[in-house]
Amino acid sequence: MISGQDIARASEVLRQGGLVAFPTETVYGLGADATQDEAVASIYAAKGRPQFNPLIAHVPDQAAAERLGDFPQAARDLAAAFWPGPLTIVVNRLPSCPVSLLASAGLPSIALRVPSHPVAQDLLRAFGRPVVAPSANRSGRISPTTADHVRHSIGQGVAMILDGGRTQVGVESTVVSFLDDQPRLLRPGGVSRQQIEAIIGAKLAAAEAGPLHAPGQLESHYAPRAALRLGVTTPDSNEVYVGFGPHHHGPYSLSPEGNLQQAAANLFRLLHEIDAAGAERIAVAPIPDDGLGEAINDRLRRAAAARPQAS
Ligand code: TXA
Ligand code: MG
Repeated sequence: MISGQDIARASEVLRQGGLVAFPTETVYGLGADATQDEAVASIYAAKGRPQFNPLIAHVPDQAAAERLGDFPQAARDLAAAFWPGPLTIVVNRLPSCPVSLLASAGLPSIALRVPSHPVAQDLLRAFGRPVVAPSANRSGRISPTTADHVRHSIGQGVAMILDGGRTQVGVESTVVSFLDDQPRLLRPGGVSRQQIEAIIGAKLAAAEAGPLHAPGQLESHYAPRAALRLGVTTPDSNEVYVGFGPHHHGPYSLSPEGNLQQAAANLFRLLHEIDAAGAERIAVAPIPDDGLGEAINDRLRRAAAARPQAS
């Protein structure tokens, strides 16, 4: 579907400071050359994103990541276990790190990720520099899991969209920071807390409240237009119901079999669909909080949180 020529053209767009939306195994990213401040700034513009939200730098392998950040042993182990894959590791920047400080939003740290999607891999290898990429949606909107979502959300702001079909994981990467004594879970995501704790042999500390530890965790980050009510087993007649497992009313279900991986992959797509259909109220079935359920519930809570009317 995507040719070597497409990849070469996308690299050229990045080199010239343009934006390229590309698929990762989690969600689509809105990519820019991480070493060009103006290119990075144009991401914030295209997203309408608050400046204090730092970005993830994507690289093709662990060796490339370790040239940008200072990895303690536990971070190395975690990277070895889950990269390439839906994991982001936050460490201190090395003094030689060429990534724009704007991408770190002024923090001395950097978030690094090695995506496994073959298109992302091809692009990163062809381009040869780190690519910063937030999820390719307008700020405060649902993360895109298809190229069409990207087109509708930020189509005008992006020079090129690499269409790699629907993304597999469907929720963003898990973000773990190694900035203090204990590793911290800053954002639940595609790799579960239990999987990570099994590798590092310790419990993950919770993200601390406040802009320093979880600067991207705005309450409004994952909002559809419709109002959202969670943990509902019996919806009101004016609500569109999103089922899970045995809880089912109407056509929408995150997973009829009650499978959390399937629910994660369907989550944003379903919310997009129901939003696009013009629903005003959405009620969601209770989702168990283990494994990927923690990330799903986290996204749902953000989506349900009170928010300003987005443009
Ligand atoms: O799956 C993903 O992670 C997708 C794909 C495109 O890679 N990207 C993504 O990026 O979700 P974004 O910008 O929507 O979310 C990045 C998260 C935010 O919560 C942000 O606060 C956090 O990573 N983050 C980035 N740099 C950080 C840093 N230096 N310290 C703490 N958190 C950081
Ligand atoms: Mg995002």
